[in-house]
Amino acid sequence: MIECRDLTKKYGELFAVDRLSLKLEPGDVYGFIGPNGSGKTTTMRMLATLLNPSWGEATVCGYSIYTGAKEIRRAIGYMPDFFGVYDDMKVGEYLEFFAAAYRIQGEARKKKVAQVLDYVDLGYKRDALVTSLSRGMTQRLGLARVLLHDPQVLLLDEPASGLDPRARIEMRELIKRLRRESKTIMLSSHILPELADICNKLGIIERGKLLFNGTVEEAESEVRKLRGGRVFLVSVGARNPEAAQLLAGYPEVASAAVAPKLQAVRVALQRGYDDGSFIPERLIHHHFKLQSFEEEKIDIEDIFLTLTKGITS
Ligand SMILES: Nc1ncnc2c1ncn2[C@@H]1O[C@H](COP(=O)(O)OP(=O)(O)OP(=O)(O)O)[C@@H](O)[C@H]1O
Ligand SMILES: [Mg+2]
Repeated sequence: MIECRDLTKKYGELFAVDRLSLKLEPGDVYGFIGPNGSGKTTTMRMLATLLNPSWGEATVCGYSIYTGAKEIRRAIGYMPDFFGVYDDMKVGEYLEFFAAAYRIQGEARKKKVAQVLDYVDLGYKRDALVTSLSRGMTQRLGLARVLLHDPQVLLLDEPASGLDPRARIEMRELIKRLRRESKTIMLSSHILPELADICNKLGIIERGKLLFNGTVEEAESEVRKLRGGRVFLVSVGARNPEAAQLLAGYPEVASAAVAPKLQAVRVALQRGYDDGSFIPERLIHHHFKLQSFEEEKIDIEDIFLTLTKGITS
């Protein structure tokens, strides 16, 4: 659906995007994470055929960005990080205007506008002025706009930026719904936790270079490799300090210490030890009452910090 090979954009001496290669299939939700100025918007604009690369190849829905701009624009929905304000235009009119640009006519147009408004839950704002919408509503309107022509591929540049926690959750739900419809979605963010649980693939970009590109599982296993052994959380309640002391004495254990915030003992295994089942076994054997046992989850923030550190240092 989206494929780039060595996609590069140079501004003078600056490589805004530096030999970027990636491949996305239908149903993929790609989290494109990177700090300010790392090249996310530049990449998306090249894929949306709004900006010419310096070199490299990219195809979207099978069309080359060099020769298939018209077809690509029809097949994608690009939501920029900032969209212009349309003074004196009502929400409904705004969408009618863009539907007309996609040559959706007459009754079909009315129906389509009502449908996308309903999709983003803005039906009740149909007659409100676009300028009167809150930030979150404006973002949702932006999403409604790129859904008008039912695109197969969505390029969403910072769809949740500036949203309050609740609006963020709503935006996430909308994206999850689109994922279930097998669309290919690339979404950028510099806020890490925002992308957790909606992406199946991740790209981490820094100064134009893709430091990591792969599935979320690959990212997790990479983090485990870089960190050393696996980490487990175990709790025996009030006797946690005692349990930590006992576990620290085993040769498989690199470290065991009470993590007060987690109300558990954090047990890191030595590199190369994969099986943590001895932890509950030994504790029970020593008459501790086991309350919980699980592998420590790696969240997207850990992934980002470990991978950028692991690769750049
Ligand atoms: N038209 C331009 N002329 C010169 N440099 C540019 C131009 N557009 C972007 N850049 C530079 O390219 C780099 C990447 O910018 P880009 O907008 O792609 O970053 P980004 O990852 O989207 O950042 P943000 O998180 O702030 O949106 C930056 O260093 C930026 O200054
Ligand atoms: Mg940007």
